[in-house]
This record gives sequence, C-alpha cells and structure tokens, in this order.
Amino acid sequence: MGADILAWLNLGVRWLHVIAGIAWIGSSFYFMWLDARLKADETTPKGVQGDLWAVHGGGFYHKRKYLLAPPDLPEELHWFKWEAYTTWLSGSALLALIYYLGAQTYLIDASKMDLAPWQAIAIGLGFLAGGWILYDALCRSPLGQRLKLFGVVWFLILTAAAWALSHIFSNRGAFIHLGALIGTVMVANVFLVIIPNQKKIVAAMLAGETPDPALGKRGKMRSVHNNYMTLPVLFLMVSNHYPMVIDHPLNWLLVAGIGLSGVTIRHFFNRRNAGFSEPMILAGGVLIFLLVMMLALATRPKPADIAGVVPFTEVRAIVQKHCVACHSARPTNPGFATAPNGVAYDTPAEIRRYAPRIYERAVATDSMPLGNETGMTKLERDRLGAWIRAQAK
Ligand code: HEC
Repeated sequence: MGADILAWLNLGVRWLHVIAGIAWIGSSFYFMWLDARLKADETTPKGVQGDLWAVHGGGFYHKRKYLLAPPDLPEELHWFKWEAYTTWLSGSALLALIYYLGAQTYLIDASKMDLAPWQAIAIGLGFLAGGWILYDALCRSPLGQRLKLFGVVWFLILTAAAWALSHIFSNRGAFIHLGALIGTVMVANVFLVIIPNQKKIVAAMLAGETPDPALGKRGKMRSVHNNYMTLPVLFLMVSNHYPMVIDHPLNWLLVAGIGLSGVTIRHFFNRRNAGFSEPMILAGGVLIFLLVMMLALATRPKPADIAGVVPFTEVRAIVQKHCVACHSARPTNPGFATAPNGVAYDTPAEIRRYAPRIYERAVATDSMPLGNETGMTKLERDRLGAWIRAQAK
C-alpha cells in the first residue's frame, strides 16, 4: 500500500476513534453524574432509587432510576454500548496500522530490546490480553469488594506495567500500549460484564421472574472503575506529543503521576456530584501534577558542554545522516510519502529555522530519530546541542 493511502487511512480511522471516544466518555461522565445526583424522599415510590430534574437546551427532563428494574419493561429501551465498541475497534485498527505495520519505526527500540516485528507484536498483544485477565480475576476476588484498596492495587499494577513496557518498547510504543491495555479493560467491562448482566436482567423480567440484584451491582462497579480510568487513558493517548514526559529517563513514574492526578480530579467531581464539596481533593490533583513537573525538571538529563565552536558543516552532516531520510520534501524512508509533520531539513535555512524544535527532540530528549534507527550517539546530540545553544545567543 502506498504511504499516501496509509496516511489517509490513518486519518480516517483516527477521526472515527476520536468521534466514538468522545461519545463514550461523554456518556460515562453523564451517567456517573446522573447516579450521584438522584434524590429520594418520602414521596418516592417503593422500588425507586431516586429522581432527578434537569433543564437542557430549552427543555425540562425528568429521570428516574429503579432499584432493580421497573415493574414493566418499556417497549423501547436505549442501550449504551456501540460508543465503547467502536472506540475499541477503531483504536485497535490504529494500533495495527501505525505500531504493528510500522513496528520497526514506531514500536521497536533496538537499544532496549532487539525484537523482530512479530515478537514485538506478540508481546504487545500479550500485555493487552494479560491486563484484562489479571484485572478481571482481581475484581472477582475478595479484593474486588473493597473499592479503595482495589484502586490502589490496580494503580500499582499499571505502574509496574508502565515500567516493564518502557523497558521493552520504544517510548511511544510503550505508552500507547499502556493506554490500549486500560482501554481494553474498559471495553471488556462493557462487553463481557455490564451488557451481559443487563441482558440477563431483561431476560429474567421477560420471563416474569425477579432479576438477581447482584447482576446490576456488579455492572455498576465495573462502570465506576471505567469512569476513574477515563482520564489516565486520555492522557496516555496524547502522551507522545510530550517528549519531555515520555522520553524522560523516569517516564514510567511521570506517566503514573499524571495518571494519578487525573484519577484524583475525577474523584473530586464524583464526590461533588454526590453532594460533598471537597476542594482539597481538587487541590491534591493539581499538586500531584505540579510535583510530577518538578520531578521531571529536576532530574532531566542535561546536554554536556562542548569546548570550542561546532561548525555548521558538521551540524548539517549530523542532520543529513540521522534525520533527512524522513525529514525531507522527498523522504527516502519508504514509510513516509511527505516530511513528517511537514518538517524538512533539506536546506541550511530549514535547519536554522527549526533549530529549537530539533533541540527539543534530539538533544534535550532522544525522541528523534524515531526508535534511534540510525544509531545517533550521545556525542552527536551534545555537539548538535552546542551549536543550537550558540545560535540562540
Ligand atoms: C524514521 C523517520 C524519522 C527520522 C529518521 C527522524 N524523524 Fe523526526 N519525526 C518523525 C515522525 C514520524 C514525526 C511525527 C511524529 C511526532 O510528532 O512525534 C517526527 C517529528 C519530529 C519533530 C516534531 C515536529 C513538530 O511538529 O514540531 C521534530 C522536531 C523532529 N521530528 C526532529 C527530528 C530530528 C532532529 C531528527 C534527526 C536527529 C529526526 N527527527 C529524525 C520521523 C522521523
């Protein structure tokens, strides 16, 4: 397939992924809010958990949640599942298109593990499947009954997975897999627990029997887990835009911290919706983020100082050797039809113009060249950095 067509396929599938993902997360947030805001009083009929009134778009809405199920099943019942399934299917297609088809460029980092593409793909899929099997077993164990402790244990497991992945794959390959692992758990919750339990409840009612209340409770627990996992997943999905996080030597810890800030902020809103205003929780989420930032800045590797002047001819040769196969108006790397992100370094003027960004990706971090396919050395990075710093003066 031509690189042009692949790029459009990538865009089309990504567009679908964003559209479905927003619809899914929107409904997750909405139903968590709805549940927390339901009110019951002495006028609430038996078997009803609570009611809620809302205005939106110029109209009034009246919602009611039943403890188990309504006495009679309505003719039309709206289900919420295709948002989740479409998000996962399009996400899997993107993973295959970018990271598996382009495993050599995007997934494998030979300086960490010199894997063949099929090995890297097998390990990646193993993490996705393994994540779900472990999570589901934990939910079914006695630990599953203790929401807070479960949260701590699952968070530590995910942090361990972040550490392991970051030692196996390229940094972007590692964190996209962590995001995909959590996303897979969330969709499997919908597909394998929440929807089947809901179907059993409906089937029992149609048969004139009383459904088992445990079915609904189990589904609700998984749905709460999903709600807390949404923000970390969103961060992981955009994380490869931030080389100062994912290409940092402590990337796994920074990612865990940012994920934790997301969980904490979500918790603040969930508590607030339930009627408890606890601004300290929100402050905690922001504080965690700031601590991550301080840790990252304090421990980032510093480019070494170079004595003397680095001539431009040397800089040009380094860029030619390590960057121009991709970053050119006519890339010679078969994976690219045009310069990545429109950034080419064919001419001296282009190298000068993009110098600060080159610094960010190839000196301050080693996020470029992708997967360090060309084996750029630390000395080359330092010399490039010395030239760019001299330019900036
Ligand atoms: C194997 C192909 C490849 C090589 C070699 C490569 N890059 Fe890249 N580069 C990419 C791709 C793909 C992107 C877009 C993805 C991204 O933004 O992370 C990119 C993005 C960038 C960006 C961000 C552009 C922006 O939007 O600001 C910079 C800067 C960059 N590369 C610099 C370099 C430098 C410097 C080198 C050489 C030391 C290099 N790259 C080598 C593929 C490559």
